Amino acid sequence: MKKVQITETVLRDANQSLMATRLPYSDYEEILADMDKAGYYSIECWGGATFDSCLRYLNEDPWERLRNLRKNLPNTRLQMLLRGQNLLGYKHYHDDVVEKFIELSIKNGIDVIRIFDALNDFRNIETALSSVKKFAKKRTVASGCISYTQSPVHTVEKYIEMCRELKKMGFDTICLKDMAGTMSPYEAEHLIKGIKDAIGDMTLILHTHCTTGMAYMTILKAIESGIDVIDTACSAFSGGTSQPSTETMFYALQQYGIDCGLDEDIINKVNDFFKPIKQKYIDNGQLNPKSLATDAQALVYKVPGGMLSNMIANLTDMHAMDKFDAALAEIPKVRADLGYPPLVTPLSQMVGNQAVTNVLVGERYKNISKEVKNYIKGEYGIAPAPIDPDLSKKVLGDDMPVDCRAEDEKRTGEDFRIAKEALGDLCRCEEDVMSYICYPDQTIKFLQNRKAQEENEAVYTIEEM
Ligand code: CO
Repeated sequence: MKKVQITETVLRDANQSLMATRLPYSDYEEILADMDKAGYYSIECWGGATFDSCLRYLNEDPWERLRNLRKNLPNTRLQMLLRGQNLLGYKHYHDDVVEKFIELSIKNGIDVIRIFDALNDFRNIETALSSVKKFAKKRTVASGCISYTQSPVHTVEKYIEMCRELKKMGFDTICLKDMAGTMSPYEAEHLIKGIKDAIGDMTLILHTHCTTGMAYMTILKAIESGIDVIDTACSAFSGGTSQPSTETMFYALQQYGIDCGLDEDIINKVNDFFKPIKQKYIDNGQLNPKSLATDAQALVYKVPGGMLSNMIANLTDMHAMDKFDAALAEIPKVRADLGYPPLVTPLSQMVGNQAVTNVLVGERYKNISKEVKNYIKGEYGIAPAPIDPDLSKKVLGDDMPVDCRAEDEKRTGEDFRIAKEALGDLCRCEEDVMSYICYPDQTIKFLQNRKAQEENEAVYTIEEM
């Protein structure tokens, strides 16, 4: 019997794409025991924006969340998304930091680490890969991920070449990450057949989004063309800028005689559990119904789900939603100027913010963000195509671009020393240090809160006695 396995994304990507990752752990703890019996290939539950959101908005320790997930999902592979040398942040970290982050992720419970670089500059995922191999446990999987996009320089041949490279590097599986949901059924067919021919029986995964309405058709073609694993979200958190629905795919595949290993009753129970949660966030405004709609405009703008909902949130905050269409139209222009980077974190934010700035200021590149400047200087890696010469000149002047890897390799331990010093007695473990390195301001605030809370509790206990 033909087999296609399923990764459930409700805890990470669906949560991130539909409601900017604001789902607290306490909302879903109760259903984890059931999810553990569903038969998923994996549950994507950590990484991406979950780490930042825990510290910044939810007053949660992301490491504690992970340990709780591990405890309540003992039989299921826990999956995270990692931005290669950027870890979960927006800049390049030194190699010793990357290695420690991965050591701690595995130690606290992660099994599958899906690693990508926004520019598909694979030098930026080498250290993450070697670290996974170094600290791997029995269930650990290093998944090499390609940021899928369309542009004059992103051809089928180019993608096949990238997959060959990932295989050669030593990844266990390969994932095609179509963050904008712009991969068409036709493209999926040609791409996946070509890749399967090139990589043999290595597991191939498709990650896509419903944003443009293509996803169900694309996944079906992907299955016909030999895909091994697909990403879906329980139907309450599916559709729009999120993934296709788990239950829907289950019923469709069943009739084809394709086994996806899922337990029908359990996946329905999981979905029933998430229905009122979804309603709660629609009612309080954190889940904007706009992100649940199909928007074929993204086929023109190539805008990933998370980026769209972020842009809506930012423009709403600035009372500038009337500039939404103009900002959207500016995105592909900025992207072409920057050498067609795939619009994935952190580049999606950088391109999105620059497009918004260009529109709000009323003059293109009058203000250029520090991040975009650094990108143009080469600090993120090599752009897929040459950067617009005028823009490049404006930023670089007479300087030469830099080699992004030269900085990363510095293994001085300096980042750890600085973090420990800054944290002082707030710091209890290596995980605190790592949180600080990734998100210093949010971590300090979180740890101060933690300390104050504990002191209050201590006082309370003494008074009680
Ligand atoms: Co995604």
